[in-house]
Amino acid sequence: MTTDLSERLVDGLNSAYGVHPGHRAAHAKGVLCAATFTASPAAAALSRAVHLNAEPVRAHVRFSNGGGDPTVPDAARDARGIAVKLYLPDGTTTDIIGITLPVFFARTPEDLLEFNEARRPDPGTGTIDLAKVGAFLERHPETVPAVTAAMTMPLPASYAQLTYHALHTFKLIAADGTVTPARYHFVPAGGEASITDEQAATLGTSYLRDELEARFRNGPAVFHLELEVAGEGDPLDDPTAQWPPERERVRIGDLSITGLAFDRERDGDVLVFDPTRVPDGIELSDDQILHARSGAYRASVARRVTG
Ligand code: HEM
Repeated sequence: MTTDLSERLVDGLNSAYGVHPGHRAAHAKGVLCAATFTASPAAAALSRAVHLNAEPVRAHVRFSNGGGDPTVPDAARDARGIAVKLYLPDGTTTDIIGITLPVFFARTPEDLLEFNEARRPDPGTGTIDLAKVGAFLERHPETVPAVTAAMTMPLPASYAQLTYHALHTFKLIAADGTVTPARYHFVPAGGEASITDEQAATLGTSYLRDELEARFRNGPAVFHLELEVAGEGDPLDDPTAQWPPERERVRIGDLSITGLAFDRERDGDVLVFDPTRVPDGIELSDDQILHARSGAYRASVARRVTG
């Protein structure tokens, strides 16, 4: 359901990145790929969800740059996204979405709106009022880690060599009803790799897409899907808070991305990834940002299909 809040969240993105008819309000520039997800035996012990128990499932994966400008050069410093849609045997789908930031900017949608307002470029000069941003960060120290990560993140060598974090906590429900709160991470099997700004300056504006296309000629790009299991006292509703690094990690499957895909997002087909679309065996935490996303994505879809 979209609400006034959903519309305001999309307005905030539109005022930061401009309105680009036909494109997503965030993560506007992306590359669609075909993939297969295969669960590991450890997954079935944690969740009764069908994709964690049955045969491998077909998937679409969309890699993206974080901003809402579809023409942005890939060498612009930005968070990157992975959006995975798994096609389940009963004809439904479930989505897992991650970004390269280790934490999110805000705990609540209201704080996010206030943050976006503070960092909105002046419409006349295009400059950001650093004093306003500073005052916001003083009031909201929980936003500082995400801002620091976004500003210092190196430029990627490949979408396939980044670690992506789903940031929210989800509850995995086992066959016997046991609940395991955990967070997902997509970890590249080939390790992480970055390039310098100087190297990036010699590459084309869509070098990340070109790199993927070339990479697939030599075989699939593989990610391990890891679950970071919550420990005693870890916040389950706060995407600005990282958990201690020693938390147990369980590899629950492999995502094997085999090539670019052209079978969706054409002829009026709308592909939307929504992290609240979960099957039996997985439940949402009380994270307010997680719950706000569904409505904001619908509002963005409504705007992009109507022009
Ligand atoms: C309240 C907070 C958030 C808002 C308002 C928001 C808003 C949006 C919107 C409007 C879109 C475009 C939807 C479409 O037209 O299909 C989008 C896409 C996306 N968002 Fe968010 N987002 C939020 C939080 C997050 C978080 C926490 C993550 C990280 C896990 C994330 C990752 C992504 C990714 C990867 C995409 C691209 C999906 C695709 O490829 O279609 N977002 N977001």
